[in-house]
Amino acid sequence: MNVIQETSSDIDIKTFRLKLADGNEKMEFMPGQFFEFSVPGVGEAPFGFASSPLDKDFFEVSIKRVGVVTEAIHNLKSGDTVWIRGPLGNTFPLGLMENSNILIIAGGLGLAPLRPLIAYILHRENRDKYKKVQMLLAARSTGDFIYKRDFGEWSKSKDTEIVLTIDRPEQGWDGKVGFPHNIVGEMDIDFNNTYAVTCGPPIMIKFVSAKLVELGIPKNKIYTTLEMRMTCGVGKCGKCNIGHKYVCVDGPVFCMEELAEMPQEY
Ligand SMILES: Cc1cc2nc3c(=O)[nH]c(=O)nc-3n(C[C@H](O)[C@H](O)[C@H](O)COP(=O)(O)OP(=O)(O)OC[C@H]3O[C@@H](n4cnc5c(N)ncnc54)[C@H](O)[C@@H]3O)c2cc1C
Ligand code: FES
Repeated sequence: MNVIQETSSDIDIKTFRLKLADGNEKMEFMPGQFFEFSVPGVGEAPFGFASSPLDKDFFEVSIKRVGVVTEAIHNLKSGDTVWIRGPLGNTFPLGLMENSNILIIAGGLGLAPLRPLIAYILHRENRDKYKKVQMLLAARSTGDFIYKRDFGEWSKSKDTEIVLTIDRPEQGWDGKVGFPHNIVGEMDIDFNNTYAVTCGPPIMIKFVSAKLVELGIPKNKIYTTLEMRMTCGVGKCGKCNIGHKYVCVDGPVFCMEELAEMPQEY
């Protein structure tokens, strides 16, 4: 695996584009899946795929620097060799979501694991399988939105709406101001025929899911993806369990109906 390009960066988050060292091998994954990223001599950590699953020659991952492994990854240079294990975990229910409206609600880096889903649904080969696609993308400030370069392209897709919101007013900002659970009720959403997918800080997921249930989306149509601490990633070590579920193999994608049955340990 070679680090071939860093496509964006701010203080804490860097996006890496990787390709398999054997140029003939293709990376096959589906939206929602993750992989274990290993830096020789440092360690291994799980990260979600963050690019289109339809781009087979490379994939991207966006990584926030929080500790030992992520620091080492941030220090990688183009051309360095690293190792990965994957793809691992389950996927978003793309089949179940067909013929429905799709509502994506993401906060900050939470947009990373949803980016493959957005790319998949909006791709010309798949777009007709889904109805209206609405996105509510939240960030602390205008400088904190990731993948801004994608927003224009996504909004060109038919029947697609993107609403941006930031936590506090900023001079020159003409988008929404406020937390996503307060903004979602202002959007024109057909709650009777919509699958919602949300990812962001745990507190955001909690408030957003409660609001979506209040607005009328059933718990079995609200999905999120969890980031428990993991070691093996393949259901062997027991590190990532919540009750009798292993997040690495039963997840990381869960619907609210399943989460309601599980202990509140996430
Ligand atoms: C399925 C999955 C997908 C993920 N996708 C991404 C992604 O796309 N981008 C990204 O930046 N991160 C992602 N993460 C989180 C990432 O795995 C951790 O940030 C990483 O393991 C930290 O490793 P470290 O050695 O740098 O930090 P450590 O030195 O191990 O820890 C540093 C600090 O981060 C905390 N921490 C470590 N791991 C986690 C975790 N899983 N959840 C909450 N807090 C944690 C520790 O408690 C500590 O306070 C994902 C996790 C999972 C399970
Ligand atoms: S990380 Fe080992 S069982 Fe999930």
